[in-house]
Amino acid sequence: MRKSFAFAGVLAGSLFLMAADVPPTTQSFINTVTGDKLDLDTSLPDGRQTPAVKEFLQTGRDPYEEVPSCFPNGKSLFLTACSGCHGGEMEGKVGPSLSDDYWTYPVNTTDVGLFSTIFGGANGMMGPHNQDLTLDQILRVMAWIRHHFSGPASHATWLTAEQQKQFKPFTAADEAAIKQSTDPAACKLPATASH
Ligand code: HEC
Repeated sequence: MRKSFAFAGVLAGSLFLMAADVPPTTQSFINTVTGDKLDLDTSLPDGRQTPAVKEFLQTGRDPYEEVPSCFPNGKSLFLTACSGCHGGEMEGKVGPSLSDDYWTYPVNTTDVGLFSTIFGGANGMMGPHNQDLTLDQILRVMAWIRHHFSGPASHATWLTAEQQKQFKPFTAADEAAIKQSTDPAACKLPATASH
């Protein structure tokens, strides 16, 4: 009897731990500069188990990209965590532009690469953001960055062929259109996944 109680305790304990685990991944995440393996377990405990994070860790694609309901929250996170160095419009300040067609690290043309740069940092002032943004928030910031890409759509290799066809460089009209709620709950993935 006592034994089965103990077992139930262990089981409940591991279920509790499981709830906060980082979902399994098929992707490999390495530091953009050093190439060292990144440990996703160093992420914040919140925002690990969202549908977007689970999908990203399996497919290597950020499902929030080109989902307009996610832009306002992505923008507000960017303004808090990134714009001081990269500029409010991503035009570049002490950090480089994130909207032009040039990448210091070409790996940032993949979602796994961009995620890794944000999560693990790069050189100098580009510190790691694993402790100020959750895994899910990093994907939201990435969607906002990707939406600002100003190069030719054919260079937006992180998008699906279909998304590339639809893609239009960011304009002031977009800016007006996204003046909706920055409430994180307003960010919804489409019910029928086209990705
Ligand atoms: C304290 C200043 C600072 C902050 C805050 C900052 N960055 Fe950076 N970022 C830099 C600098 C400086 C570099 C250039 C580092 C290098 O070349 O290794 C950089 C480089 C980058 C790169 C690589 C660009 C390329 O051309 O390959 C990306 C992507 C990036 N930052 C994204 C972000 C995001 C997203 C945030 C917010 C979550 C952020 N940064 C916050 C200063 C900052």
